[in-house]
Amino acid sequence: MCGIVGYVGKQSALDVVVAGLRRLEYRGYDSAGVALVADGKLVTRKRAGKLANLEAALAESPLPASTTGMGHTRWATHGAPNDRNAHPHLDDTGSVAVIHNGIIENFAALRSELESRGHELVSETDTEVVAHLVAEEWSALEEAGAPDLAEALRRTCRRLHGAFTLVLTHASAPGVVVAARRNSPLVVGRGDGENFLASDVAAFIAHTRHAIEVADSQVVELRADRITVTDFDGEEVTPKEFEVTWDAAAAEKGGYPYFMLKEIAEQPKAVADTLIGRHDGGSLQLDEVRLSDEDLRSVDKVIVIACGTSYHAGLIAKYAIEHWTRVPVEVEVASEFRYRDPIVDRDTLVVAISQSGESMDTLMAVRHARKQKARVVAITNSNGSTIARESDAVLYTHAGPEVGVAATKTFITQVVACYLLGLFLARVRGTMYADEVSAVVRELSDMPEHIDTVLDTVEPVRELARSLAGCKAVLFLGRHVGYPVALEGALKLKELAYMHAEAFAAGELKHGPIALIEQGLPVIVVVPSPRGRSVLHDKIVSNIQEVRARGARTIVIAEEGDTAVEPYADSIIRVPQTATLLAPLVATVPLQVFACELALAKGLDVDQPRNLAKSVTVE
Ligand code: F6R
Repeated sequence: MCGIVGYVGKQSALDVVVAGLRRLEYRGYDSAGVALVADGKLVTRKRAGKLANLEAALAESPLPASTTGMGHTRWATHGAPNDRNAHPHLDDTGSVAVIHNGIIENFAALRSELESRGHELVSETDTEVVAHLVAEEWSALEEAGAPDLAEALRRTCRRLHGAFTLVLTHASAPGVVVAARRNSPLVVGRGDGENFLASDVAAFIAHTRHAIEVADSQVVELRADRITVTDFDGEEVTPKEFEVTWDAAAAEKGGYPYFMLKEIAEQPKAVADTLIGRHDGGSLQLDEVRLSDEDLRSVDKVIVIACGTSYHAGLIAKYAIEHWTRVPVEVEVASEFRYRDPIVDRDTLVVAISQSGESMDTLMAVRHARKQKARVVAITNSNGSTIARESDAVLYTHAGPEVGVAATKTFITQVVACYLLGLFLARVRGTMYADEVSAVVRELSDMPEHIDTVLDTVEPVRELARSLAGCKAVLFLGRHVGYPVALEGALKLKELAYMHAEAFAAGELKHGPIALIEQGLPVIVVVPSPRGRSVLHDKIVSNIQEVRARGARTIVIAEEGDTAVEPYADSIIRVPQTATLLAPLVATVPLQVFACELALAKGLDVDQPRNLAKSVTVE
């Protein structure tokens, strides 16, 4: 959700912080603000709207120079996105500034308590209470002759319920930024004579690739030459360090007008990178799945938990994993999982899919599963993320940074990671022979080339999308693995083009949705290959005829050589021939392009769709 940056060092803190915020703006863009410690004072500037509004305000009325500062881009939870509710928030004396990601659940009680002691709170946010509480703790420590911002924060954190990343500066503590986290992302960047903290490494990757994981319930004190990490009781801990494997250029637009366009184009490479090191020719190497063969053989059920697009990756995984392993696979929306008392035990393998590794719904589901003794394998694109750290094993997707809010290359690589996991399970459990696994792995390694072919021939999809920009709604139909592809196509269109888009399993059409069909309604149909499962193919061709007969405009995604769809398709989008289970890797791509182009035709910002955030760290 919100983007957070903190800096102490030798450069202009404002420049570092604003550049970092720009890289994090995809996390939230309702409002933005900065605070600097300059000449024994706190100076702040904040504005509703996108970061550009804050930059304009800073240009109009510049802040004094400083090498200690922090900044925030907000995705509103408590209080409307206006100037007053933008972060940072200050205490009554203007000495403490705080920025926050998350939700402080007991803020109402804390607010009443503060008001009863005479504090005046000016915003509607849950965050502001923290500034006042820290100010009180600071005063108490100061009176005792030991003013210490990290200790004031630790004392405050012990009183807070909920999830938070908090970052604070104090007017009387130049050269110090402190931060705390509980169930919300925070990572530290170690520089040379300068240090950084942020909700995501993207914020400081232009300065350093040396990063430090901050675990839950820890406080960081950042100085130019020192990073101290403690738990909430003040006990010093040795945090885990890691190197970020991608560079700043990977998080730039690279000549594309939008990140999303670049990220769609990067999918062949992202798939290739996710496969690298995991197969040797045909044989599969998945050392990261650090579960014993015995554990994997005892698995009697797989449950995939995920949200949104990652959930769609899980739906595709179900078809593949069940087919290859003969183990039943359930796929569940993470936000529902722990509330329905799911049947989970030590023989359950839970696969948690999350590109950000921070979705609170998925994290809570992971914790619930682990409490019931299930083994959890995370699939994520985010090194050192909370879900990665809290799972028994992690399969990283190597998609590189994804800045566009709508998931594209992270989705495609999640699907690849699920295939790898399914094949690995099948091999260990003996449901596939080694040469069968090798054959699929070889097909997988051809997928980057096939996706490239789709991208090279996608111009007609763009034209089609532009021609449909005036439509009110679009329906999507699919069968088998084409059904989750249809769901993903509809989600992309909803979130980017703000259009009513609905996906159905084509077989369900006659059970109700067919009533929606009217003259001219675009219906996009993801057609399975006529080779292999030809029965399904025949049935979906009938479905196409049924909607067309009722006036729908049929847009068909079909593989090369499928001539049977031609008489019934108003438009055909061709994809290369692939193995049936792997087809989502090619069939999804034109739908991403379609949604993106249609949104652009409507003049919308595809990188930052309204109301959304890249990393959803509240439940
Ligand atoms: C849609 C999209 C979201 C995410 C969902 C889960 O394009 O990106 O639906 O897929 O919020 O996020 P992660 O994968 O980070 O858990």
